[in-house]
Amino acid sequence: MNTEMKEYQAEILSGKEFSAAIKEEVAEAVSKLKEAGVEPCLVVVRVGADPASEVYVRSKVKTAEELGIRSEHRHLPEDTPQEDLLAIVDELNAREDVDGILVQLPLPKHINETEVLERLDPLKDVDGFHPVNAGRLAQGHEALVPCTPAGIIDMLKRKGIEMKGANAVVVGRSNIVGKPMALLLLQEHATVTICHSRTRDLADVCSRADILVAAVGVTGIIREEHIKPGAVVVDVGMNSITDAETARDFFGDDELEKRLTTIERRGSTLVGDVNAKAAKSKAGYFTPVPGGVGLLTVAMLMKNTVKAARLRRKV
Ligand code: GUN
Repeated sequence: MNTEMKEYQAEILSGKEFSAAIKEEVAEAVSKLKEAGVEPCLVVVRVGADPASEVYVRSKVKTAEELGIRSEHRHLPEDTPQEDLLAIVDELNAREDVDGILVQLPLPKHINETEVLERLDPLKDVDGFHPVNAGRLAQGHEALVPCTPAGIIDMLKRKGIEMKGANAVVVGRSNIVGKPMALLLLQEHATVTICHSRTRDLADVCSRADILVAAVGVTGIIREEHIKPGAVVVDVGMNSITDAETARDFFGDDELEKRLTTIERRGSTLVGDVNAKAAKSKAGYFTPVPGGVGLLTVAMLMKNTVKAARLRRKV
């Protein structure tokens, strides 16, 4: 037996803990802004009745209120014409009291998402989805940066995880997570590889990652053979599973019972792109689903709202 072989028991990175720290700092920044006569304001626009969006938007509005950020929720009917949505964006762009505008995605099929996102004033684009912000991020300039990847960097820094020179692998190339994540890791001087559905031998590439970020939306695509012993594994996936057999493959004794009960009661349980059992036994650090990066996203949205208020109002 190889006596040098180390049994890893991943440290769980709790989104709750990191988001609480970010929110505390934001609340303090908000009170300073208020003392200077600035009341930051976030407007969330939601179109239609997507149930997941409803949950996310409620959480965003509630968190804003908790931190002293004024918020408005514009809920528009599913059949809202493109022109009406664009007119609302124009109105919010023009309003002096509005610092952040967030158009919740996905939008209904008849709406051209790109046209809507490009209509936002880049200075109020707290999601960081506008091409001006994406371009500024790519060129390493001050920008509003997408919340999930920005939250992940913030968490890694708080944890003291060395990114400089590290091999970082990002699985997924979306504009919301994969691409900005790769650019932010590059900014931190990591050696970055982006993988996607056409990547040859995903396990071979991933298994060399000191930092592995999974953001593809494929249940359990990252397994034991994808994980370098001791790696930092960040799971951005949000998938649900409905059967006991998948749950048994996914979870060890520490949480299987709880998950099976959830499936029995609610018909499904939330999982990520990473097989939790494999990550917990082989990684050095692991962000669970739920309770991992999802919470960071909302906290960073608040941080971006304060940043947008400062940038636009020059305070
Ligand atoms: N839908 C899922 N994630 C997000 C997000 O980060 N921002 C917006 N606007 N919509 C989303």
